[in-house]
Amino acid sequence: MKIKNICCIGAGYVGGPTMAVIAQKNPEIKVTVVDINEERINLWNSNNLDKLPIFEPGLDKVVSETRGKNLFFTTEIDKNIENSEMIFISVNTPTKTYGDGKGMAADLRFVELCARKIAEVAKTDKIVVEKSTLPVKTAAAIKNILDETGSGVKFEILSNPEFLAEGTAMRDLEVPDRVLIGGGQHDSGKNAIQSLVDIYSSWVPKENILTTNLWSSELSKLVSNAFLAQRISSINSISELCESTGADVDEVAKAIGMDSRIGSKFLKTSVGFGGSCFQKDILNLVYIAKSLGLNKVADYWNQVIILNNHQKERFAKNILTNLYNTVAGKKICFFGWAFKKNTNDTRESAAIYVADILLDEMANIYVYDPKVSEKQIYDDLDSLKTRDCNLNRQMLKVNNDPYEACKNSHAIGILTEWDQFTEFDWNRIYNNMNKPAFIFDGRNILDRKTMEKIGFTYKGIGK
Ligand code: NAD
Ligand code: UGA
Repeated sequence: MKIKNICCIGAGYVGGPTMAVIAQKNPEIKVTVVDINEERINLWNSNNLDKLPIFEPGLDKVVSETRGKNLFFTTEIDKNIENSEMIFISVNTPTKTYGDGKGMAADLRFVELCARKIAEVAKTDKIVVEKSTLPVKTAAAIKNILDETGSGVKFEILSNPEFLAEGTAMRDLEVPDRVLIGGGQHDSGKNAIQSLVDIYSSWVPKENILTTNLWSSELSKLVSNAFLAQRISSINSISELCESTGADVDEVAKAIGMDSRIGSKFLKTSVGFGGSCFQKDILNLVYIAKSLGLNKVADYWNQVIILNNHQKERFAKNILTNLYNTVAGKKICFFGWAFKKNTNDTRESAAIYVADILLDEMANIYVYDPKVSEKQIYDDLDSLKTRDCNLNRQMLKVNNDPYEACKNSHAIGILTEWDQFTEFDWNRIYNNMNKPAFIFDGRNILDRKTMEKIGFTYKGIGK
């Protein structure tokens, strides 16, 4: 079937950029992104492209080329579901915070609501595409809901997980390593797969479009994130070993990464991985394994999370120990709050947890991040429910001038690897600080020798 109208439910970090690129590459297809969040939709429709709800390099250009032509953002969900032949579900699937599987399983209530809504309003056959990251076998549940509650129309379910990373989303979408499409192996399933293959084929080479059965596709997404996160925990575990032995973790990473069997990517040690997905997807994988009685498998993957939590705590404790075992009343400056550079996303950012530990130790924290708002930073801290919200506002301040943020501080923590941090006037920063002035480089982006020459006591990770 040739698709002429696409509806995407969920105008978030995935739905927005993904649909913008599909629309740009398929000008003959009308793509409508719908969401229940009116404020978010208004921002997507904002005339000022700086106000798009997501900061992603290059996104504004694609949106300005397509929006109002064949790309639309709206809260009119029912009408657009009905008018489309293909519907992407791209809603959030966070870790459950209640009931059975609390703290581990994926919360699928938003996905189920989408399925029920589609069943309720669909009057013609639809292809429903899982774009959200979902536990293996979710397609069976979606199909069941659609078939049982729909009005007799036919539904085909596809799994088409998204592999973009924030900060590089546009490039990842333009030149994906692969596009994965899972579907039923019966005739109508194969036809549905072909319809989606046709859409991607307008810019992705055929050999990079991989088609599989539904369960392989659903599971591959979780496994892909688990493998990526595992590499980070692996190198982070080695960073601690380096600190005790005199080896340098960046040198070790380079040495092992030059082995083409290991490869050099995703071996950058850090204060710990963040982002909305790695932890949630591994927890989900662990939960699935446990539910199937595969306890050794579950334990194996759970260790990736244990190590990541340890790395965040270790970073905070290292600050405490080096500042003579007390940070009470001392000013500590954070450069960076986002979970990685080139995004305003702070979900599960290591900065939140490091700040929380230091606030417990009665430190005063001043944060500078080029893209994250003050409101977001306080929301992140408040969401931990560790202390009174007013206390968070008293003990942590946000400053949009890095040279002011670091004034009279005892230490600087680099929490995000923003490029601009390497271009700061570090002599000026040093002069603004209390002495001895410490740098805790949670991203190893600064040159130790240069920093020491200026006068800093420099502590990198795994150095
Ligand atoms: P997000 O929170 O940024 O966006 C989800 C959107 O869905 C929100 O705007 C929300 O209002 C909307 N929504 C929720 N329920 C709805 C409903 N019933 N009807 C209409 N709209 C509804 O989430 P995201 O980061 O875009 O992630 C979406 C999915 O994609 C998740 O499963 C995630 O694991 C996966 N994923 C995310 C990334 C990433 O980099 N963020 C990458 C790959 C995959
Ligand atoms: C990750 C995956 O890379 C995407 O393929 C996937 O689609 C996405 O999750 C998802 O499912 O949401 P993302 O979390 O946006 O993308 O960003 P990454 O570049 O993977 O970084 C995640 C975290 O790991 C960041 O905190 C980053 O700083 C950290 N990281 C990354 C390291 O500490 N070291 C590295 O070598 C790489």
